[in-house]
Amino acid sequence: MPASVPAPVSAVPAPVSPVSASVPAPDTTPERIVIVGGSSGMGLALAESALAGGADVTIVGRSPERLAEAERQLGGGDRLRAVAADITSEPDTERLFKTVGETVGAIDHVVLTAADATGAYQPITSFDLEAGRRLVDSKLFGAVLLAKYAAPHLTSGGSITFTSGIAAYRPAPGGSMVAAVNGALASLTYALALELAPIRVNALSPGWVDTPIWDTIAGDGKQARLDAMAQRLPVGRIGTPHDIAEALLALMHNRFITATVLHADGGHRLV
Ligand SMILES: NC(=O)c1ccc[n+]([C@@H]2O[C@H](COP(=O)([O-])OP(=O)(O)OC[C@H]3O[C@@H](n4cnc5c(N)ncnc54)[C@H](OP(=O)(O)O)[C@@H]3O)[C@@H](O)[C@H]2O)c1
Repeated sequence: MPASVPAPVSAVPAPVSPVSASVPAPDTTPERIVIVGGSSGMGLALAESALAGGADVTIVGRSPERLAEAERQLGGGDRLRAVAADITSEPDTERLFKTVGETVGAIDHVVLTAADATGAYQPITSFDLEAGRRLVDSKLFGAVLLAKYAAPHLTSGGSITFTSGIAAYRPAPGGSMVAAVNGALASLTYALALELAPIRVNALSPGWVDTPIWDTIAGDGKQARLDAMAQRLPVGRIGTPHDIAEALLALMHNRFITATVLHADGGHRLV
């Protein structure tokens, strides 16, 4: 038929699928998730929930002992692996994603919960810059390195999720550096969501959550400080690592969410 002749219009309308075209077909491949910070706290809880949901999970941290203990606790079989790497080191981060690429292949989601908050809460007039650099290196440059080396391995529509925190939105005296880093993570999130699209980039901002990071921040005063905050919060309690894991899963799985900071803070921003 010459190209100028329109194709005949069928008298019989095409059958209408009972399933909306916007509902994606079920994919039976296990999701591949990399969790940097997956050996403790929120990252560990996320690993547990993701494994329970059938995902293939790679947990990452600096300490091989902590990773081994997390692996034992998670018992994920051949859907779980651990890689020791320091997200503040560019060679380590490059090697991490090379290893993941070789062992797992393409990745669906990468989550960063790693932070080194040792000494990060201090009055500004006596602030130790080394403590500030540790925080910036782990949370902010860590996020940059993660995006740089993970992005080439991520599937279209896959996601990167950073973890910022309540200190940016409800700052307290002695927390200026933590506020600044968490605030910067929001801006990084918005910028990368455009630059890396269609990969989605989001951040989760937790309120106070009972994890081992509080041993570093508050030492023996941990329980008293968490109890006092629980009294203040509209929800009447401190967060659990699984509260945050659920919020992280929502960011990862909702394909219409990008360039978003999701707050899971028990209402802390208002009190
Ligand atoms: N817990 C809270 O109340 C709270 C509130 C607001 C915001 N946040 C933020 O939420 C995130 C998660 O905190 P969390 O409470 O789950 O912390 P956590 O229990 O201390 O866990 C931190 C994890 O990150 C790993 N990590 C630390 N530095 C690393 C590095 N340089 N490279 C690779 N892995 C590293 C740690 O393992 P290794 O030490 O073995 O490396 C550990 O697995 C952090 O960004 C934190 O600032 C927490």
